[in-house]
Amino acid sequence: MKTRQQFRRREFLKTIGGTLSLFTVATHAPSAIVDAAEGDTRPVKRDPAQLRRLLDEMDAKGHRFWSVPRKDGEFLHLLVKATRARNVLELGTSHGFSAIWMGLALEETGGRLTTIEIGKERYDLARRHVSEAGLSQRVTLIKGDAHVEMAKLAGPFDFVFMDADKERQMDYFNQLYPKKLPPGGILAVHNAILAANSMKDYLEMIRKHPDFDTVILSLTMDDGFCLSYRHRSS
Ligand SMILES: C[S@@+](CC[C@H](N)C(=O)[O-])C[C@H]1O[C@@H](n2cnc3c(N)ncnc32)[C@H](O)[C@@H]1O
Repeated sequence: MKTRQQFRRREFLKTIGGTLSLFTVATHAPSAIVDAAEGDTRPVKRDPAQLRRLLDEMDAKGHRFWSVPRKDGEFLHLLVKATRARNVLELGTSHGFSAIWMGLALEETGGRLTTIEIGKERYDLARRHVSEAGLSQRVTLIKGDAHVEMAKLAGPFDFVFMDADKERQMDYFNQLYPKKLPPGGILAVHNAILAANSMKDYLEMIRKHPDFDTVILSLTMDDGFCLSYRHRSS
């Protein structure tokens, strides 16, 4: 899916940026001890070194699972915290890398993540990784086609990360807007630069949409995010 040159760029960016911020996330992990009861979303005690190891291992295998680069994971983590998101939806879990970054941010906001993956092996792997990260009580994993499964979710969501089949973003949008993404909600679409052609219809629509402020930006020089904020007045 990605070229050798893009991987080299990613390796360089990891070297200059990744370690310090991951260390910060890991060492700032909440330390309260709770029983892992169903539906309990209080912060869980976790070992920062173990968390760092897990994220390092997942990052090293990231290209095999098409996961976001670490910088983009860190960015999602920051965005979820900064927007104080509490009900987050992810389309396209893969092995759970971005889900863990967002799940850790939700420890601070007290929120929850629901994430949908169509591939059974990736779903099983993500389940294991989420458990190893101590996030099983905060992250609900659904196995199935996101186009079908998201219709069963009531919402509303205040933050949606769209990272599944890039060609069908319009269907995801039409299912979310207007009822399941109220004013103040954020849509974050990954690969808005790398896969811009595959989601041309979505990008053209959202840039002109009167209810959204939209920016396209990239932290890695290639992947890119399309971030859209639904105005509070809409
Ligand atoms: C780019 S990867 C997701 C990476 C993940 N967000 C991360 O950063 O760790 C895309 C994933 O979406 C899944 N996918 C594709 N179409 C889907 C669909 N219709 N419903 C659910 N998952 C889908 C693929 O199986 C793949 O695992």
